[in-house]
Amino acid sequence: MTSAAQENGPRRLRAGVIGLGWAGQQHVAAYAADPTVDLVAISAMEEHLLAQFGDAHDVPGRYQDWKQMIAEAELDAVSIATPTFLHAPMAIHALEAGLHVLTEKPMAETGEAAAGMVEAARRAGRVLDVSFNHRQRGDVAALRQVIEAGVLGKLYYAKAGWLRRQGIPGLGTWFTRAGSSGGGAMMDIGIHMLDMSLHLLGEPAVTAASAATHAEFGPLGRGGSGFGISEVEEGVPFEVEDLATAFLRLEGGATLLLESSWAQWIPHDLCYVTLYGADGGATIEWGGDPSHPHQRINIWTEVAGTPAELQPVVGPDGRHAGAVADFLSKVRSQDWPEHDGSLALRRARVIDACYASAAAGAEVAVAG
Ligand SMILES: NC(=O)c1ccc[n+]([C@@H]2O[C@H](COP(=O)([O-])OP(=O)(O)OC[C@H]3O[C@@H](n4cnc5c(N)ncnc54)[C@H](O)[C@@H]3O)[C@@H](O)[C@H]2O)c1
Repeated sequence: MTSAAQENGPRRLRAGVIGLGWAGQQHVAAYAADPTVDLVAISAMEEHLLAQFGDAHDVPGRYQDWKQMIAEAELDAVSIATPTFLHAPMAIHALEAGLHVLTEKPMAETGEAAAGMVEAARRAGRVLDVSFNHRQRGDVAALRQVIEAGVLGKLYYAKAGWLRRQGIPGLGTWFTRAGSSGGGAMMDIGIHMLDMSLHLLGEPAVTAASAATHAEFGPLGRGGSGFGISEVEEGVPFEVEDLATAFLRLEGGATLLLESSWAQWIPHDLCYVTLYGADGGATIEWGGDPSHPHQRINIWTEVAGTPAELQPVVGPDGRHAGAVADFLSKVRSQDWPEHDGSLALRRARVIDACYASAAAGAEVAVAG
C-alpha cells in the first residue's frame, strides 16, 4: 500500500522573492524554471515590476510590503535580493517566521550584521544560504575537480581579481553609500573572487588582511555603469572605494592577493583566479574586449617528467539557477543546522578586516 505522500511525491516547496532588480530577477527566473518549486509570491517597491514578473510567471502573490508577504503567503523559502543593508533585517524576520532564506551577496553590510543572521538561523533551525553564483561556473567546477585529484599538489599562493574599466553600479544610489552597501568594489565584486578563491583553495581560514582602498573615479562622478534600478539621489557623496587591493594570510602559510575595481584605466574588464601549487599552477580567466570576449582555463604541470599544459573540458555555468538549486537541496536535505550561513559569515569577516586594515594602514587580524 502506498501513502498519499508517496503517490503525490514530496510536497512542493512554496518560494518567494524580495527585490526585483537584476539580482532578484535571476532568482525569479530560477524558481520559475524549477518544476519542483512553486514561486507563489514576489515583493518589490516597483508596481510595474510586480505586474511584469507576476504576469510572466503566473505568480499569485504580489506585495509592495515584504512583511505582509511573509505573513500571508505561506512560504517555505524566500530569496532576498534587496539593497545590502536590508539583507540582515529581512533575513532575521523571515527566519523567525520559520522560513529558509537565500540572500544575495554580500551577506550583509558588516560582519556584525552577518553574525546576527547566523544566530537567527541557528535559533530558528532553518537554512541560511548566500547566493555566490559565480562559484557555479563550469571552469570553477572543472578546476575544483583537478585540485581534488591532487594535480596541483599543495597550494601555497593565489591571486584573484575582478577589474572593471567603467563599472560603478548605481552611482548615487544605495550602492555608493557606505551605510547601505557596506563598501565598494571589494564588497560588491571582490567578494565573488574571494569566495571562488577560498572554495578552490579548500576553505582555509583567512587569518590576517593588509588592504588599501582608493576612490579616484566615483567622487568625480566618473566611472558609472548605469547598473541597478534603485533611485539615484542627487548630491549624495560617493562614500565607498572604487578600487581595493588586499594581501590575505591563510592558515597553513599560504597567501592570497585580491584586487577589485569598479573603475580603472585598463583596456577591458577582466576576471581571474590563479593558483600556484607545489606540483602545478592553474588559471581561470574571463573578460576582455566585449566584441571578442574570452574565457580560458589553463593548467601547467608535468606529465611523465615532461612540462605539460592541460585544458580540462568545461561544463556549463550554473549561474543563479545553480545557486538556487543548491539552496533548495540544502532545504530538502533536512540537515538544516549544517547550513546556517557561517561560511558566508567568514567571507564577511575577511572583508571587514580588509576595510579595517585600509583605515588603519596596517595588517589586521581576521575575527574568528
Ligand atoms: N550575485 C550577483 O551576481 C549580483 C548581481 C547584482 C546584485 N547583487 C546583489 O543583489 C542585491 C540587490 O542588487 P540589485 O542590483 O538587484 O539592486 P537594485 O537596487 O537594482 O534593486 C533593488 C530591489 O530591491 C527592492 N527593494 C528595496 N527595498 C525594498 C523593500 N523595503 N521591500 C521590498 N523590496 C525592496 C527594490 O524595489 C528593487 O526591486 C544587492 O545585495 C547586490 O549586491 C548580486
